Amino acid sequence: MKKPRKSSSNSILVIHGPNLNLLGAREPHLYGRETLNEINRRLATRAKKAGVQLQTFQSNHEGILVDRIQRAGGDGVRMIIINPAAYTHTSIAMRDALAAVKIPFIEVHLSNIHAREAFRRHSYFSEVAVGTVCGLGSRGYDLALEYVLSAV
Ligand code: DQA
Repeated sequence: MKKPRKSSSNSILVIHGPNLNLLGAREPHLYGRETLNEINRRLATRAKKAGVQLQTFQSNHEGILVDRIQRAGGDGVRMIIINPAAYTHTSIAMRDALAAVKIPFIEVHLSNIHAREAFRRHSYFSEVAVGTVCGLGSRGYDLALEYVLSAV
């Protein structure tokens, strides 16, 4: 098996959209009791074990998320794991940024967006994502990371 390189040129970026900073306290029946810090720490530990650098980023602001995606293009980020949260259903700007930097990405949702309100069923991201994981709670991030680690 190919040994993973430790340089930032195979780093992974995990992006969390609006309100995900409230995980743990926010509607736990939908999103679970784990905090974002706990999730991020677990992902960082797993990536480190694989010898891959992992960066995490959260913002409640669409433009800041677009800026972070654009920056990833020059940062040597090989793959992105993204939960665009409410912007999933509205943000052409974030989708365009991902298309512009041409970094493959996995879309993750804690809840099953297809089993909720009708407005959550449409994602601007899914048709350009490598794949999507939804409805598996925070495990979805771990599963996405396992895929990414096997691919970078
Ligand atoms: C979410 C689902 C979105 O519809 C919602 O706006 C979120 C979280 C999820 O992880 O289940 O904020 O992306």
